Amino acid sequence: MTILAKTHRRDRVLSGHGTLMGQCLQAGLPVASSCSGRGACAKCAVSVLCGMEALSRPSAHELLVLARNGHPDAVRLSCQCRVMNSAEKILITTGYW
Ligand code: FES
Repeated sequence: MTILAKTHRRDRVLSGHGTLMGQCLQAGLPVASSCSGRGACAKCAVSVLCGMEALSRPSAHELLVLARNGHPDAVRLSCQCRVMNSAEKILITTGYW
């Protein structure tokens, strides 16, 4: 499995278990949040540049929060999604990394 976080300096390799948000934090990458990962604020949104199909399916709640905040289809709430298919490459980024 390769999960990469694209930053303005270099790609960072993520590892571990749990949500994408948790993996980013474990790698030392900051993740914006004002709801502590409860899926309410949408500040933790990440753009999924490839590997969307390897992530857990978004819940109805996540889809509602993404739509309410005007996020396109290639965006996920990092606090709400997990890696489901460890064989695929996943590349994510944010506007502030
Ligand atoms: S941290 Fe608030 S929605 Fe993910």
